[in-house]
Amino acid sequence: MLTLFCRIFQFLFNIGARVLPWRKAIPVEGTGGVAKIPLLLRERGVKKPLVVTDPGLVKAGIAARVTGALEEAGVAFALFGDVEPNPSVNTVNAIFGLYTTERCDGFIAIGGGSSMDAAKAAAARVARPRRSVNQLGGLLRVCKRLPPFIAVPTTAGTGSETTIAALITDTATHHKYAIMDLSLIPLYAVLDPELTVGLSPAITAATGMDALTHAVEAYLCWTYNTGESIAFALDAVRIIFANLEKVYKNGADIDARAAMLRASYKAGFAFTRAGVGNVHAIAHTLGGLYNTPHGLANAVILPHVLEDYGEAVHRKLARLAEAAGLVPAGKGEDADKAKRFIETIYGMNERMGIPKGFDFIKDEDIDQMIKWADKESNPLYPVPVIYSRERFRAVIESVRIRN
Ligand SMILES: NC(=O)c1ccc[n+]([C@@H]2O[C@H](COP(=O)([O-])OP(=O)(O)OC[C@H]3O[C@@H](n4cnc5c(N)ncnc54)[C@H](O)[C@@H]3O)[C@@H](O)[C@H]2O)c1
Ligand SMILES: [Fe+2]
Repeated sequence: MLTLFCRIFQFLFNIGARVLPWRKAIPVEGTGGVAKIPLLLRERGVKKPLVVTDPGLVKAGIAARVTGALEEAGVAFALFGDVEPNPSVNTVNAIFGLYTTERCDGFIAIGGGSSMDAAKAAAARVARPRRSVNQLGGLLRVCKRLPPFIAVPTTAGTGSETTIAALITDTATHHKYAIMDLSLIPLYAVLDPELTVGLSPAITAATGMDALTHAVEAYLCWTYNTGESIAFALDAVRIIFANLEKVYKNGADIDARAAMLRASYKAGFAFTRAGVGNVHAIAHTLGGLYNTPHGLANAVILPHVLEDYGEAVHRKLARLAEAAGLVPAGKGEDADKAKRFIETIYGMNERMGIPKGFDFIKDEDIDQMIKWADKESNPLYPVPVIYSRERFRAVIESVRIRN
């Protein structure tokens, strides 16, 4: 009954989604991309952007590369440098407040998903000042053009530089939810690999597995995919398998860093069109409740969910295994190829120091996690297997490590 209801919803939603005016952030690729930002601002008539970033990036001097380029070009700007991981409603409101008092007219978000999402949500408030952040949560609650928005990702990554989403945590309840609206797709995505060379191996691994999860969940989508989103997901999987462990071992490999930024952007486009799935639905509950880094949560949960899906995903995982170059195309059983794909993900996790499970999930939180994950996934996400609450429980239990 649940499955039938979800599939009918998704079938109808798919018809509606196909007539929406989808676009991508315009990519500005390659080293030196940061130096082009003043020109992009001028093109869009922005006189005083608000630069939004996090304290780690201020300290590491990465934000200064952008603000330095602005100063050199004589562009006035204001700076908000206090975004926290899994950004909160309070932070979004503080950014919105600064934007208003400083009379800014555009955004530059520098950072991982946290900075980009906090800035996107604040930009949504600029477009809809009478609505609270919570009121903007959900699908198509903004429906109004945002101020010019330049995303400068420093992780690879969330893909937020080209997605419709901003993930925000309700300060009071710890509920992490998404604002999803086409207007949240940034205008430009500056993909400058120089900004990512200083990422630690641990963050490189976790954020890279987030991008892989986007590509895999998008590819497994039951109905919203288009030819382009399928091609982007396959390409992202291929690039990530070829480059993620390279950048984990050698962060200074600029070509591999550039490839990972491209993969993250492609995976971002794929999932924003085709949807994510049960991996993300569970991962978001861990981010909200325990502040678990988003990529780490996905990395751990992904192979468990793929295993749980079983036969339903063998054919598609076999194609992904071929795209990743793990098995030859053509000969061989899909079930074996799918198994190989899942085992390779477990292996990558292990080689990159990602644990098999989590020991901090509390018994008393599980019912709440199931409720949130169910609410996020069903009926919207076109997952290959619709999860009942019991199945969510079983998968959550499978990622727990008991001491
Ligand atoms: N909007 C979307 O479509 C979307 C998609 C997936 C995830 N997300 C959200 O994005 C957030 C996670 O983003 P994230 O994984 O990119 O991490 P993050 O933005 O939280 O950053 C993690 C840490 O990495 C540091 N860091 C980032 N770039 C660095 C660099 N180049 N060098 C050194 N340190 C650097 C930051 O200072 C921070 O401490 C979560 O809230 C998640 O839910 C959003
Ligand atoms: Fe993600």
